Amino acid sequence: INQSITDELKMTGDSHSEDTLSITEHLEKIFAQAIATAYPAYSDVPVLVAPVNNVSAKFGDYQCNNAMGLAKQMKEKGISKPPREIAIEILKCCPASPIIEKIEVAGAGFVNIFLNKNYAVDALTNLLRNGLKPPAVPKRRVLVDFSSPNIAKQMHVGHLRSTIIGESICRLLEFLQHDVIRINHLGDWGTQFGMLIAHLEDRFPNFLNESPPIGDLQAFYKESKKRFDEDEAFKKRAYNRVVTLQSGDPNSIKAWTLICDVSRQEFQKIYDRLNVTLKERGESFYQSRMLSVVDLLRSKQLLELDEGREIMWQDSEKTGIPLTIIKSDGGFTYDTSDMAAIRHRIEEEQANWLIYVVDSGQSTHFNSIFKAAERCGIVDPSLHRVDHVQFGVVLGEDGKKFKTRSGDTVKLSDLLDEGMKQSLQKLQARGRDQVLTPEELLNAQEAVAYGCIKYTDLCHNRISDYVFSFEKMLDDRGNTAVYLLYTYTRIASIARNSGTDFSNLSDVLNTHALALDHEKEWKLAKTLLKVHDVLVKCANGLYLHFLCEFCYEICIVFTEFYDSCYCIEKNKAGEIVKINHSRILLCEATATVLRSCFNILGLKPVTKM
Ligand code: ARG
Repeated sequence: INQSITDELKMTGDSHSEDTLSITEHLEKIFAQAIATAYPAYSDVPVLVAPVNNVSAKFGDYQCNNAMGLAKQMKEKGISKPPREIAIEILKCCPASPIIEKIEVAGAGFVNIFLNKNYAVDALTNLLRNGLKPPAVPKRRVLVDFSSPNIAKQMHVGHLRSTIIGESICRLLEFLQHDVIRINHLGDWGTQFGMLIAHLEDRFPNFLNESPPIGDLQAFYKESKKRFDEDEAFKKRAYNRVVTLQSGDPNSIKAWTLICDVSRQEFQKIYDRLNVTLKERGESFYQSRMLSVVDLLRSKQLLELDEGREIMWQDSEKTGIPLTIIKSDGGFTYDTSDMAAIRHRIEEEQANWLIYVVDSGQSTHFNSIFKAAERCGIVDPSLHRVDHVQFGVVLGEDGKKFKTRSGDTVKLSDLLDEGMKQSLQKLQARGRDQVLTPEELLNAQEAVAYGCIKYTDLCHNRISDYVFSFEKMLDDRGNTAVYLLYTYTRIASIARNSGTDFSNLSDVLNTHALALDHEKEWKLAKTLLKVHDVLVKCANGLYLHFLCEFCYEICIVFTEFYDSCYCIEKNKAGEIVKINHSRILLCEATATVLRSCFNILGLKPVTKM
């Protein structure tokens, strides 16, 4: 594994130095070498190194757990060797490394690794001088398809989840220096536009010269649907409008554009509030490419007639349900547009990693698309990584699908408004409105409102459903955005209240070195240094809850440190008598790591709240 990472780095011309590898990756290299030296016949086993959960434990900071597996493998070949002996052999073959203080074999064959303090001091000093640098990973061109609501329909909580998770994935991958393309695959094409255009022609006959005031597009949609169901002549004209639209008739295109604009503006308001960036590339974009992907599939003889439709199986064994590529009326489907889109993404966008952030309900669809794309030669698994990043549903406090009291789908703008209202109440209850300036209060209010909505979504394993409750998400204890934001402001205030200038950390470091003598200082330092491991782990599986858990761990370990280590000493009169520069530097390092993590999670750190 390590060799291929280094090779790939060389190939992409990256000049990352050793010290931007995560600690786990460093150790993996060391143990790969040790295993290869001790047991050359097993030099290709995957190296198992992981951080130990409780960093203050006596079992070291990281563990290598290869000995047990190796013993088993040897036994299968008739060699009987206790794992403990194997562990000792591996230990003996470990090359010296500046990051390792000592290595011990414990129990049945665990190899416990203790980090070196000087290494930690250097790494944190570096962090304080240069900010948090990304760990070295092989670079990819990633296309993330997220949010992707539908025109004229309500953008619902499912789309909100996709928007929040997708944005964070983009931020994470951008932090890791990947080349990221953010795509909003808007549902802006399809038969419903026929009736919308026909209805527009009747309601606003002058639409070509004067922008129609469609205030409520959902109501407009309902009206047109009603006519479509009840009025044969209207229905006929609606079908005809689909044809004129898809053939590019200027008047139909104009009407379609006007309708899309209404939704587009609504969506944009949500994106602005949540600080989300997307490039719109709706299904309509693929119209001509759907024609050519059909040609491709036909030329490869992958289309099959089935009751007037043309279908494609994902493999020659005809597994699962086939994709419908052409309907019996000659029209295209969601399947066709996704086949055209995946081809465009790989062949034209030249992406080698595709990510679709869409609810779990569509996993069958994406499975079929991915397999079919492989079957017809668009996707090559040895070059392209393709992920359906699926997620569960949002539940109401009654445990059922999240709805308003009257049973309607919740309007996202209402949800965000409610968040703003409750966040203000929370701040007022703490008397913060008495202390903060109006501007500071507004900043805090927004950070808490949007932060808690995003964080709740991200802090659970995305596969599971979760219950939406403002009360829970606004709790200032436990793993919540509010707790993290409060802890951050507390940390940020320490340097500010020290009476000393910490604005230029490099200057401070020139006169005061970082020391990690106290047990709690050392524990905090080791926690912070896990950041690269955590980021790599999050990116590998595209799971953000690991990053949330890490932030929470930092805050807890920081609080332990702060409770037992004075940063600023005051006399009885409350005057500062002594400040501990090293400890305040450690506070600043903590704030630096948290800021970077918050940024990925879409939390806005505030210095006062
Ligand atoms: N518009 C779709 C929906 O609301 C989601 C689109 C997801 N992206 C894709 N390439 N199919 O369900």
